[in-house]
Amino acid sequence: MRNGIIWVLVLVGFQFQMSTSQVPEISRKSFPEDFVFGTASSAFQYEGAVKEDGRGPTVWDKFSHSFGKIIDFSNADFAVDQYHRYNEDIQLMKDMGMDAYRFSIAWSRIFPNGSGEINQAGIDHYNNLINALLAKEFFFIYAIQSQQHGALGISLNVIWFEPISNSTEDIEATQRAQDFQLGWFLDPLIFGDYPSSMKKRVGSRLPTFSKAEGYLVKGSLDFVGINHYTTFYAKSNTTHLIGFLLNDTNADSGAVTLPFKSGHPIGERASSIWLYLVPEGIRSLMNYIKDKYGNPLVIITENGMDDPNNPFISIKDALQDTKRIKYHSSYLSNLLASIKEDGCNVRGYFAWSLLDNWEWAAGYTSRFGLYFVDYKDNLKRYPKQSVQWFKNFLTS
Ligand SMILES: *[C@@H]1O[C@H](CO)[C@@H](O)[C@H](O)[C@H]1NC(C)=O
Ligand SMILES: *[C@@H]1O[C@H](CO)[C@@H](O)[C@H](O)[C@H]1NC(C)=O
Ligand SMILES: *[C@@H]1O[C@H](CO)[C@@H](O)[C@H](O)[C@H]1NC(C)=O
Ligand SMILES: *[C@@H]1O[C@H](CO)[C@@H](O)[C@H](O)[C@H]1NC(C)=O
Repeated sequence: MRNGIIWVLVLVGFQFQMSTSQVPEISRKSFPEDFVFGTASSAFQYEGAVKEDGRGPTVWDKFSHSFGKIIDFSNADFAVDQYHRYNEDIQLMKDMGMDAYRFSIAWSRIFPNGSGEINQAGIDHYNNLINALLAKEFFFIYAIQSQQHGALGISLNVIWFEPISNSTEDIEATQRAQDFQLGWFLDPLIFGDYPSSMKKRVGSRLPTFSKAEGYLVKGSLDFVGINHYTTFYAKSNTTHLIGFLLNDTNADSGAVTLPFKSGHPIGERASSIWLYLVPEGIRSLMNYIKDKYGNPLVIITENGMDDPNNPFISIKDALQDTKRIKYHSSYLSNLLASIKEDGCNVRGYFAWSLLDNWEWAAGYTSRFGLYFVDYKDNLKRYPKQSVQWFKNFLTS
């Protein structure tokens, strides 16, 4: 999930049939008919098999093997072994009633040396994965640039920011914080240039778009992918002396974002220190994108929460993930309100994530999966309660 990577995504569509079962309070029937539900993953966090079939090394291979960088001293050499188990995993998605899969392609499998010759084994792997998805009538969405029919978009990590107070300084700082986060990427794609607040505050250190470049990027996407998890407060701070010397983006933005006000958290905390449950944030964010960017087509390409990997509780207890059910049902309710009541143009929702997986610097300490992965017993997958919740939600 959020690690600063920008995904370039292609969405290809096929038909999907549903079966019937019992009815939760909101269900896929509450959403527009063409709305797509799925789960999301990323190659490095899922695949493992880092030395197989000619894959080349990446910065993350090196980083994860550098002593002290990963909190639990783990690495992603095996991850959750989706490289070998994708058929099994696709079946898990199918059983839940999901109709799409968002995954990424490891470029190090395609171009093991970074450039130069294509590694055919890498192409073959993703070809097989895609064929396995098509065989189960899945939509799929993946990180690649392509000429294939389909829709081309980008996926951006966006925290929603609420001003910490109603002072003009904090309200303006909140706008700057959003400009420096979302606007940095989305303004060029929609308007052909960086946000004016960035140009003003970063000055000559910010590259400029030539007329031709601005024209090229403006309107170049078919959808905006949004990875959204949480909401923070934003407040003005234009006196980051050290930050300015280090060319730190927070210093440039003149805003500080934080999940606390007077010592109180903005919402109930998940496991990660940055992840608080603020379900109404997704509705505010969808409205912000609608109003500021002319209601582009949006796909929620990641949304979810983690539990700690607690070695002292049984698997049976770890499967009781009622907080995760609360998270997804309340975020989906707010997303639905943004569509039905506010007219936001949202067409898809991808839960992060199908499986517990390797969470970057947090290693295996953080469990974001709908399925529990037993790291002590051959990476066996067990459905958490949220799997049943999604099944009811999707197939009622
Ligand atoms: C990558 O570089 C190595 C060493 O130069 C070479 O042996 C190998 O053939 C290259 N692989 C590809 C796919 O270009
Ligand atoms: C800011 O003003 C709005 C509207 O009056 C109010 O609902 C909100 O609670 C205020 N926020 C803060 C942080 O005081
Ligand atoms: C602003 O940032 C500076 C430097 O990081 C810090 O010393 C100061 O306390 C901050 N001011 C506010 C109002 O948060
Ligand atoms: C900050 O940016 C300036 C201007 O581009 C550059 O000269 C300086 O080396 C940068 N400082 C650091 C610590 O990167």
